[in-house]
Amino acid sequence: MTTWDSLYARRASRMSASEIRELLKLLDRPDVISFAGGIPDPNLFPAEEFRQAYQDILGGPDAGRALQYGVSEGSPRLRDWIVSHMRTLGVDCDPGNILITSGSQQGLDYIGKLFLSEGDTALVQWPTYLGALQAFNAYEPRFDRLDPCANRDVTDYAARAQEQGGRVKFAYLSPDFANPTGLSVGLAERERVLALAEELSCAIIEDAPYEALRYDGDTVLPLLALDSRKHGGIEASRTLYLGSFSKSLSPGLRLGWVCAAKEVISRLVLIKQASDLNTPVLNQEAMARVAERVFDTHTARTNAVYKARRDAMLSALQIHMPEGVHWTRPDGGMFIWLDLPAGIDAADLLEKSLATVRVAFVPGKAFHPDRTGANSLRLSFSCADFAKIEEGISRLGRLISETVMSTV
Ligand SMILES: Cc1ncc(COP(=O)(O)O)c(C=O)c1O
Repeated sequence: MTTWDSLYARRASRMSASEIRELLKLLDRPDVISFAGGIPDPNLFPAEEFRQAYQDILGGPDAGRALQYGVSEGSPRLRDWIVSHMRTLGVDCDPGNILITSGSQQGLDYIGKLFLSEGDTALVQWPTYLGALQAFNAYEPRFDRLDPCANRDVTDYAARAQEQGGRVKFAYLSPDFANPTGLSVGLAERERVLALAEELSCAIIEDAPYEALRYDGDTVLPLLALDSRKHGGIEASRTLYLGSFSKSLSPGLRLGWVCAAKEVISRLVLIKQASDLNTPVLNQEAMARVAERVFDTHTARTNAVYKARRDAMLSALQIHMPEGVHWTRPDGGMFIWLDLPAGIDAADLLEKSLATVRVAFVPGKAFHPDRTGANSLRLSFSCADFAKIEEGISRLGRLISETVMSTV
């Protein structure tokens, strides 16, 4: 029999199945109330707009082009829309600054491939997006905690990176309504991240798939905009911005983008060519048409729904959670993060929950590179209606209360 393990590259040992994806498989059971998946509500997708767009393309003169290979950088029409969208966010760029990817997840993989050699350091938020850890892990980095508010000396970041035989290559953060915490990075903190990256001479990876899902508060300029303004334009910026259509229009079409200096984009294009040549043209053409027609009106409509669900979940938490449980109050996105009293393990709680009250969530450990955070968990409010939110949070509150009682 072939001993596959002896044939795999060393990096394969760092590739493990996402606990969330594994978990999602269990959640199709109709009796489970799930707050686990961080996905948009499929009932809100602009299906009719997409049907019309695909019909227009395939029934018109562009059909041949849409079914053909495309340029690796991405379809011009979609890149044009993205350029105008980035301008509304305060980023002055042109189509040469945009690479279309198969979701921002592909962008994360390419960035890992471009920047990380074995032993290099990636600074990440703690907790951070699990998919980024998975994407970067394949390139064998070490992770260090990006904490711009802590009074940690820059030389300490650099020295620790050097001890591991590499250097700090980038600071990765999700500044708007982060997955998993729902928290945002304010303007002052963004400026501190910029200053830190300048001192470390490293790049900044700004992962912003939830950017358009703001329900409260004022918008904050993206790090890419701040960086470009400070240094006289995007070409002098050290920030790579990752955008996505997944949370606003549809994740199924797998469309995201990287916006950065042309020098970096040209390197990422080479990786794209070697990886999959181009993102499907048909999907890009359809997305361009739908985004042109309805991006603003659609996101306004879906944001109103998500905002009401967030509010419902926050009120339910207030009513049903016992003392000692703390949670975030996000201004947008899809997630609320809970800290449980010390000593309660959220993975054990999930097992108990699925067996008894049948409420699903994601235990917090997976989002921490050092596997801490056992007493935390992520709730997503994006796919549950009011009745499910009230019922699910009330059941979960009861279970947590019982667990707290049994541990004292
Ligand atoms: C922070 C973050 N980055 C990237 C992604 C990947 O999104 P996409 O569907 O664009 O690949 C996700 C998806 O959940 C996410 O939460």
